[in-house]
Amino acid sequence: MVEHDVKDMKLAERGKLRMEWSRQFMPVLNSIKEKFAKKKPLRNIRISACLHVTTETGNLMEALKLGGADVRLTASNPLSTQDDLAAALVRFYDIPVFSIKGEDNATYYKHIHSALDHKPHITMDDGADLVNTIHTKRQMLLKDIIGGTEETTTGVIRLKAMAKHNVLRYPIIAVNDAQTKHFFDNRYGTGQSAIDGILRSTNVLIAGLNFVIAGYGWCGRGLARRAQGAGARVTITEIDPLKAIEAVMDGYDVLPMSEAAKIGDVFVTVTGNKNVIGRQHFLKMKDGAILANAGHFNVEIDIPALMKLSKQKKRIREFVDEFTLADGRKIHLLGEGRLINLAAAEGHPAMVMDMSFANQALSVAHLVRVSKTLENAVYPVPKEIDEEIARMKLKTMGIKIDALTAEQKKYLADWEEGT
Ligand code: ADE
Repeated sequence: MVEHDVKDMKLAERGKLRMEWSRQFMPVLNSIKEKFAKKKPLRNIRISACLHVTTETGNLMEALKLGGADVRLTASNPLSTQDDLAAALVRFYDIPVFSIKGEDNATYYKHIHSALDHKPHITMDDGADLVNTIHTKRQMLLKDIIGGTEETTTGVIRLKAMAKHNVLRYPIIAVNDAQTKHFFDNRYGTGQSAIDGILRSTNVLIAGLNFVIAGYGWCGRGLARRAQGAGARVTITEIDPLKAIEAVMDGYDVLPMSEAAKIGDVFVTVTGNKNVIGRQHFLKMKDGAILANAGHFNVEIDIPALMKLSKQKKRIREFVDEFTLADGRKIHLLGEGRLINLAAAEGHPAMVMDMSFANQALSVAHLVRVSKTLENAVYPVPKEIDEEIARMKLKTMGIKIDALTAEQKKYLADWEEGT
């Protein structure tokens, strides 16, 4: 059996069935698999992937392997691994996996190192922990690396900061910035799966609750719409005036967190920044408030401050910690402040990951073709790949659209025709 460190190989059969279930909702990735199997564009390429270990990721790993790559997988978050899928990839697909749901920080990094031990040519990140580990602790690996991809907003921000400070040592494709990724995955994926995680962990009735959403980026927009659709009263907090106006015109209340803290029943952070909810806010919250994070890292809620304010912490349900403050008020933290959609639910549905991971697969093949021409910078996914994925997705959805007529094309190219 291939090298691995997973929770329990006896879970493999169940993981295989769940991976098959998600496969049927990933038609774009399936057609890439067919092409990869025929043309082997990743022959002799070693890939280390640090992604949420889910059934959708399993299908991406299978695609890369069919393309000829030698892949290793580790988790991009200590709480996001689906242990059955990890076992299935090892047993049925001969893919080395190093991840266990609930692993501590030391194990998380030990697993990252294991995924790097085969000296990758390409890194695939969700949050930039691989790139960071390579640049700070495994520089010897740099000589073999031709490039990498990054899945999420937070990772892209980190990598752009590295490029700006001239410390990035290989080119990265920002998969997150493809339109067929963030328009759908961030908005509809996070919108649905974060609510799913909140419901699975608490079973609250959303209708009538005051939902406070910190951050009105693509994820916040999706989440606000879904929460409102389920009957919540939604308040947005923002630091960006443009996004704040958009939230107001989309029909939400906009308040500073210091005000919103007093009225919220459920708080969800999706800002990508740290300490968005902190001590001064906990002190104002209603008894029974529920806090969740749907941003990449568990830094958005100041958990150490919450611990300090509390005289007692009790795990009251799976994925729910009840903190009792000095005055007796209770605050409930979901999923240890980690990505709630992956900690307590199954992450984004396969239907939307289909486009995100089609971008990953095609970006890796693109890197193999052009990496020699790239500098140590962060690049967008080529427009042709983005458009091809949009066309393929639409086709698999059975939806037809119009095409410009010759007359319309001419009109668009013409500057003389006016009033
Ligand atoms: N990120 C969010 N949802 C995901 C999923 N289902 N698989 C992998 N990464 C994800």
